[in-house]
Amino acid sequence: MLKAAEYAEEAKEISPPREQTNATPQHKQQKKQQKKQQKNRQVELERAVEVAVATTVEPPGLTMATIGVLESCWRQKNGTPRQFTLCPSSRATVHLTFGDNPFNALDGLQEFSHVYLLFHFHQNGDYNRKQMKIKPPKLGGPKVGIYSSRAPHRPNPIGLSIAKIEGIEGNLLHLSGIDLINGTPILDIKPYIPRWDSIPDATAATWVTEPPVPPITTITFAPKALQSLEALKGQLRFFSPGEGPGAIMDGIREALGCDPRSTRLRKKYGSKVEFGFCIDVLNIICEMDDENHAATVADVELWPHDQ
Ligand SMILES: C[S@@+](CC[C@H](N)C(=O)[O-])C[C@H]1O[C@@H](n2cnc3c(N)ncnc32)[C@H](O)[C@@H]1O
Repeated sequence: MLKAAEYAEEAKEISPPREQTNATPQHKQQKKQQKKQQKNRQVELERAVEVAVATTVEPPGLTMATIGVLESCWRQKNGTPRQFTLCPSSRATVHLTFGDNPFNALDGLQEFSHVYLLFHFHQNGDYNRKQMKIKPPKLGGPKVGIYSSRAPHRPNPIGLSIAKIEGIEGNLLHLSGIDLINGTPILDIKPYIPRWDSIPDATAATWVTEPPVPPITTITFAPKALQSLEALKGQLRFFSPGEGPGAIMDGIREALGCDPRSTRLRKKYGSKVEFGFCIDVLNIICEMDDENHAATVADVELWPHDQ
């Protein structure tokens, strides 16, 4: 179905039929018929414009079912990677709940390596949905139109991520490479299809390709942090003790490497304050060294809000 604006354009483009001189009665009849058809089409288009305008969905007129909930190693917005590719070691599981036999909906997904997740930014809090220009959070770059950004605060709080499939068990879809927090409502899942979805010569804005926030290139773990990791590894939910602390250490390195601090925290306090973020059940306490683009994981403790 054409959109309202497209109908309107098409309706405008219907020009009146050209006049013919010395027309035979047959021509006149044809012309009359053509005119009638044009008129009918015009009326039809105008009606369609009215219908399209009347049925335009304005939030909150649209209701959608949540098809499942994400259980994620990220527990809060602070510290969660800005995009899914930034932390391939992060882990999550979608618990599918929609329908009588939700596991049936996953049939066939084993043949794909990655999925798209469409989800609700449920922790956006109060925000101005009509704000059309924003500064992409955490990037500290220029103000851009909301539709040229991936910011969570948008007219419809719907997000799009890609994740790697790690396994399927009944109604559980295990994933890695996640930028979503625990409890995120999932609206849809679709397979990523490289043949159709990958566009090798696609381009992007420079604030994305050359982000204004430099990466943290040197990350070290203090002996105290390593001891705590060893002591707490048995309590991890997403990283099994059998893997040793190496797997979660990769996750911590990847998350810290892209400097997850907010622009405000980075600019106002810089290296002067410790920065903490949560992964799995752990609170990671870091000392930042902005001058040398470095960070030290000073200590690791159980996430205080779980206790
Ligand atoms: C910039 S968004 C990008 C998400 C998705 N890849 C997209 O492009 O739509 C990622 C950030 O959203 C925030 N976030 C993640 N899950 C959220 C949720 N359920 N509600 C609100 N904010 C969330 C986190 O701070 C995370 O760093």
